[in-house]
Amino acid sequence: MTLGRDDSPPHPGGHPAGPGGHPAVSVGHDAEGAERAFYGRRKGKRLRAGQEQRLVELLPVLRLTLPPPGAFIDPQALFPVPTDEVWLEIGFGGGEHLAAQATRNPRTGIIGAEPFVNGVVKLLRAVDDGALRNVRVWDEDATALLAALPDASLTRVYLLYPDPWPKRRQRKRRFVSDASLAEIARVLKPGGLFRFASDIDDYAGWTLVRAARCPQLAWTAEAARDWTRAWADWPGTRYEAKALAAGRPPSYLEFRRVSPA
Ligand SMILES: C[S@@+](CC[C@H](N)C(=O)[O-])C[C@H]1O[C@@H](n2cnc3c(N)ncnc32)[C@H](O)[C@@H]1O
Repeated sequence: MTLGRDDSPPHPGGHPAGPGGHPAVSVGHDAEGAERAFYGRRKGKRLRAGQEQRLVELLPVLRLTLPPPGAFIDPQALFPVPTDEVWLEIGFGGGEHLAAQATRNPRTGIIGAEPFVNGVVKLLRAVDDGALRNVRVWDEDATALLAALPDASLTRVYLLYPDPWPKRRQRKRRFVSDASLAEIARVLKPGGLFRFASDIDDYAGWTLVRAARCPQLAWTAEAARDWTRAWADWPGTRYEAKALAAGRPPSYLEFRRVSPA
């Protein structure tokens, strides 16, 4: 699969963004602290008229409004259709995985967080084409969304092929930190799943180390096949296709929300 440079989500560090892809920092940050930031691009190639129109007409319908700091949203109340559970996908890119899961699981509400506008418009198209009513969008840093989710309110959180930031001095920009894993664990219901995929071995190891320090997350793998093979209900993602084409086999890590002993 060949990806057009300017209409694919940014992948800072490991895969150069190219001209025009200057990373932009949107909020303050600290190394492994709670106040994470979005460091990627917000815009790529100029949007076509139809995409602009979807952005104007459909995004306001799907976009979440967050309450003031300290208050929480009711995830299940976000959807106009009855839902049995709610999932979150952080950094959905072009939304291929999110849209496929929403189509297969019409009674699951899925919230997608993605600040890259060219990715958001792709998801909007899939929502429009598929008449999906179980999707909501947060087009900003997922950190703020996590903070607005109540404890034990989701049954799955996905973080798929997050920006790798491979240089040592950039690693503090990685989405996975002690603080973000604690937040993900907090919003998961007991027994809920956090699924992480990456083609960057160092990032998989980074995540395992931090998850091992999080008493509420237990790695579910029992054998190598559990982290070398994709999950059974896995439609793949755009960045996965890119990784496989480049000969980088991904790791699939799944963690279950457990109660601390
Ligand atoms: C390498 S891309 C992967 C996209 C998609 N998950 C896939 O596998 O094709 C990483 C995505 O994460 C998004 N991202 C980075 N930091 C984020 C943040 N703090 N909150 C939400 N999304 C973020 C980027 O905009 C980018 O689209």
